[in-house]
Amino acid sequence: MTAVHPAPVSARQVRPPPEAPLAMLAELTHRCPLACPYCSNPLELTGRERELTAEQWAGVFRQAAGLGVLQLHLSGGEPASRPDLVQIVTAAREAGLYTNLITSGIGLTGRRLEELDAAGLDHVQLSLQGVNAGIADHVGGYKGGFDRKMMVAAEIARIGFPLTINAVMHRHNLGDLAQTIALAHRLGARRIEIACVQFQGWALRNRAALQPTREQVEDAKRIVAQARVDYAGRLSIDFVPPDYFADFPKACMNGWGSTGLNIAPDGKVLPCHAAEIIPGLQFQNVLTTPLAEIWNDGPAFNAFRGTDWMPELCRACDRRDIDHGGCRCQAMALAGDARATDPVCRRSPHRAALDALIAAETGVAPPPFEYRRMPH
Ligand code: SF4
Ligand code: FES
Repeated sequence: MTAVHPAPVSARQVRPPPEAPLAMLAELTHRCPLACPYCSNPLELTGRERELTAEQWAGVFRQAAGLGVLQLHLSGGEPASRPDLVQIVTAAREAGLYTNLITSGIGLTGRRLEELDAAGLDHVQLSLQGVNAGIADHVGGYKGGFDRKMMVAAEIARIGFPLTINAVMHRHNLGDLAQTIALAHRLGARRIEIACVQFQGWALRNRAALQPTREQVEDAKRIVAQARVDYAGRLSIDFVPPDYFADFPKACMNGWGSTGLNIAPDGKVLPCHAAEIIPGLQFQNVLTTPLAEIWNDGPAFNAFRGTDWMPELCRACDRRDIDHGGCRCQAMALAGDARATDPVCRRSPHRAALDALIAAETGVAPPPFEYRRMPH
């Protein structure tokens, strides 16, 4: 009789279960009145007909809370484009989640904000495309958007929501950085997040148009350092410098599948917002598979957990547990290989090509924007 050997135990089967995720980003819709060329949404946007209903989101929130999620970020597209946003926030609070609304403000009114307040919304994060209508409406691709945003900001202050201003900075508005910080303070924000554009989704498509110059990046660092002194105790300033100009990559998502997850408008569960750029990953849907199962053992989540997947360069590196090899989507976009060391890393064999790319893109006038648009 032939001996029966047990099936080999795969790395996946012996891996200890991951820690619970802290935060979940729920992309309620990809619809948005704005058309920002820096949007991190995928090029293939999900249409309204495929969006989860409010009841389905309520079920997702209960599952997330059961899994250990504490913070819920309601995002999009523009979450206010959902007429049932108040119902969705109510469900999130009933599930016991801290809720943060990430919005351009367009689609919100004083009345709607009062309803969201009554529903228990904890925090608002308002995006700023520029410091005046000229630049803001150009970047957002929406005439009148800046003025409406200023009215919404006033209503947010009147109601007393804790407010963070989220300013995505790039070649066209980095020159206004000091004014951007001043505006955030005038609007009553407690915090400003100055995020230099990350090249994913539509932003990757518009990279040459958005790429800041090295000089702008150095100026930005100085301005932020000074503003931290000037606004100490009044405005907290977070600064995400453009990582193309850094020596080492950022710890994207704090490490793949370690602390956060994203749900796309149709219920697809993603390890990060850009993960669909990586070919061969198998994404599961929360409508058909329990969220805990997806988080604990989903193939897309396990793909880049831990260190087994890393190239030797990262596995042997002293920064391995600091940046986790960087961003998988960036490695895919720049090196054509999601398993490669993030090309931002000075030790990466792809770094020289990235430097050449920066020089080429910043050495000429930026091309026009390709605005984000929904499929017809
Ligand atoms: Fe990070 Fe890998 Fe570069 Fe080391 S070699 S710094 S782990 S990206
Ligand atoms: Fe996907 Fe960084 S954006 S891993």
